[in-house]
Amino acid sequence: MTMMKRGFAAAAMLLVTTSLVHAEDVEVLHWWTSGGEAAALNVLKDDLATKSIGWVDMPVAGGGGEAAMTALRARVTAGDPPTAVQMLGFDILDWAGEGALGDLTEVATAEGWDAVVPAALQGFSKADGKWIAAPVNVHSTNWVWINKAALDATGLAAPTTWDELVAVLDKMKENGITPLGHGGQPWQEATVFDGVVLGMGGDLYKKAFIDLDPAALGGPEMAEAFNRLIKLRSYVDDNFSGRDWNLASAMVINGEAGMQMMGDWAKGEFLKAGKVPGTDFVCIRFPGTQGSVTFNSDQFAMFNVESDEAKAAQAAMASAIMNPTFQSAFNVVKGSVPARTDVPNDAFDDCGKKGMADLAEANTNGTLFGSMAHGHAAPAAVKNATYDVITAAFNGEYADGAAAAAALAEAVAAAQ
Ligand code: GAL
Repeated sequence: MTMMKRGFAAAAMLLVTTSLVHAEDVEVLHWWTSGGEAAALNVLKDDLATKSIGWVDMPVAGGGGEAAMTALRARVTAGDPPTAVQMLGFDILDWAGEGALGDLTEVATAEGWDAVVPAALQGFSKADGKWIAAPVNVHSTNWVWINKAALDATGLAAPTTWDELVAVLDKMKENGITPLGHGGQPWQEATVFDGVVLGMGGDLYKKAFIDLDPAALGGPEMAEAFNRLIKLRSYVDDNFSGRDWNLASAMVINGEAGMQMMGDWAKGEFLKAGKVPGTDFVCIRFPGTQGSVTFNSDQFAMFNVESDEAKAAQAAMASAIMNPTFQSAFNVVKGSVPARTDVPNDAFDDCGKKGMADLAEANTNGTLFGSMAHGHAAPAAVKNATYDVITAAFNGEYADGAAAAAALAEAVAAAQ
């Protein structure tokens, strides 16, 4: 074949390839399907579109991402992983351990991510010294979202202790509304329990959920935490079982329920419904947890791809995600706060400003802990074992908190 012919053949081949696969597309697996989540996702999609990075959507509904992770496993087993995947905490490290993730170190080094991403997040964005994921936000779970009119109707102030919380919930019940908007799914009960246990003290939280200390998991303080969780069950409505988290948010938004104990993605739902913090709703840290933060950071992990074009698209997506202007625009809508320390708080509402200040304070004071409920405290096997006991306790399957705590210690030991 002459040079010219060979060149022509190569060009034709390229044409065929690009007409089948858009070289710059990224296929993104995620679970952002609620109103607020979809609005935030659009900020990301639109941003990537301006950079000519095509988006192939792979949504897998289900708060907390359990269904998405099952779908991911199936795709990887079939030898066809998506390019980019929304992922949390230890799941990222597990996939890195399997050798399934690409390497973002080149773009991370060029852009100086090491200097601006909090160390606690880097613990999940890097493995063996290599960047393997780009953090898009920092959510936290120890929040309560309260309908302002419902709170005003109690004549009480926003609660700062467990006893004050119980007084507000009792009053809301008397006033004829469902005090606690809740969806009966294991990850939602675990999210509530993040706050309940943190409310017993950061020491208990760390020893039990991060150090997996059997004495803390099965001891009297954990027993009390379970008694509190069991008490909270008495404030939910009869139809709570299986309800999605965003429908529980909607109950608070429309005044059917008084409050929801949920991560700050709930704020995305309030904002999407046109509600204003301080006017229509109030955001407080779970009573007794002001000063501590249980974090949950959504990251995009990039799976191994062959072609240079696909690798370039992954790097471009990661770079776009880490851009400070984008981090502001995205997190304002999502309800979370930026995953970089150098993003100004001007564009954020009062709850967002509080979230940013709380995160910085907790980071400085050593009171920033990974969320048990969202896979930032322990690997999936331990998390799932913990979920089982929490949900069983919430549904009244143990005689009391002490029995639940004993079961937790046993389940966690068996899962390791
Ligand atoms: C969390 C995730 C959040 C939010 C929530 C509900 O695990 O980190 O971004 O989407 O689930 O779906």
